[in-house]
Amino acid sequence: MMSGEAESIEAKMEDLKVGEENQACEQGDGVDDDSKEDIVDPWNVATSSSKGIDYDKLILRFGSTKIDDALLERFEKITGHKPHHFLRRGIFFSQRDVHQILTRYEAKKPFFLYTGRGPSSTSMHVGHLIPFIFTKWLQDVFDVPLVIQLTDDEKFLWKDLKAEEAQKLGYENAKDIIACGFDVNKTFIFSDMNYIASCPEFYRNMLKVQKCVTYNQVKGIFGFGDSDCIGKISFPAIQASPSFSNSFPAIFGTKKDIPCLIPCAIDQDPYFRMTRDVAPRLGYPKPALLHSTFFPALQGAQTKMSASDPNSSIFLTDTPKQIKTKINKYAFSGGGASVEEHREKGGNCDVDIAYQYLTFFLEDDDRLAELREEYSSGRMLTGELKKELITILQKMVAEIQERRKTVTEDLLKEFMTPRKLNFKL
Ligand code: TRP
Repeated sequence: MMSGEAESIEAKMEDLKVGEENQACEQGDGVDDDSKEDIVDPWNVATSSSKGIDYDKLILRFGSTKIDDALLERFEKITGHKPHHFLRRGIFFSQRDVHQILTRYEAKKPFFLYTGRGPSSTSMHVGHLIPFIFTKWLQDVFDVPLVIQLTDDEKFLWKDLKAEEAQKLGYENAKDIIACGFDVNKTFIFSDMNYIASCPEFYRNMLKVQKCVTYNQVKGIFGFGDSDCIGKISFPAIQASPSFSNSFPAIFGTKKDIPCLIPCAIDQDPYFRMTRDVAPRLGYPKPALLHSTFFPALQGAQTKMSASDPNSSIFLTDTPKQIKTKINKYAFSGGGASVEEHREKGGNCDVDIAYQYLTFFLEDDDRLAELREEYSSGRMLTGELKKELITILQKMVAEIQERRKTVTEDLLKEFMTPRKLNFKL
């Protein structure tokens, strides 16, 4: 092909222009040549290692920063709150520019929270809740406005879904999200398909981002190919735009200098590396980030959790009995093959899914340490450990189901209406 050569030269030239934010990523790719690299991007998470994803390596490759004790201490000092157990236990393990956000908070300068969800199934599972549980806690601690993007457009482009269906799933998911307890006076939830069509300021930011990023750059960051539809290629500009305060004139007026903090799973980082790269060129602050690890499937940390496999996770629609059966039947056990062997050698918490889930959902540090000790020593059996988890999940899911019942169409509409939020600029 004649144009092939020309294009590859152009590609190389473009690569040289890839900004600072993406360089760590580019360099990292060449560093690990001894073992196969984990695949972590917004659409694929895979590892060939039996130990699961190597998160430390990911930090190096992505060029983010590990959340260290110094950050947690400063967090506690400035906010007066003990860091959430997701932070204390390394579930949120990586960050970008969180120190700057703390400095602003200390100086009583505003910032906002931004997170999102790609609605691909009617029912969310407990893993989907991790960023929302954490974001709700951040909203309580900092008392700041929050915007939640439902990327119905993304799911329409990537999945075999009709546009109307994707949008409807978004509204359904929004009810589950609201059931996490967000404050309607401080939270704006929006469907891309709906909001963007009504907000020129948002669309203007999308255009600005689109103009700043070349095809070769998104190819490098997201791995897009020549046969990907053009909707996918321009989508990253849509996920980038809520990072900028003037995309929400109802909340922030024309202010363009209010930075945001984005809690998300680490697979979303490519979108925000790109965003951070273009922000200064548009005269906007870079978004800060808090990255989480992935929530493991019941079948084990190496298997993929899928919203289409009802047995791979606990869904928010599950009954207490279903929760019990699923955990007992499917949760991968790190225990011994027989009771005798277990008593002798003990259980392996690092691969045991009941234990892993407890690190997410059992808040009491002392109790968790006790369970670890009892299980590792073999004094506690898998069934007993699972029983602890079952009780906690049954309670948690029942509470969300109760709260979801109180989410009326009117309340949903209120959350999703662009409006002033209770917050001083
Ligand atoms: N792309 C995300 C998903 O598929 C949804 C999303 C949009 C998001 N904006 C976000 C997630 C900001 C975290 C933070 O789930």
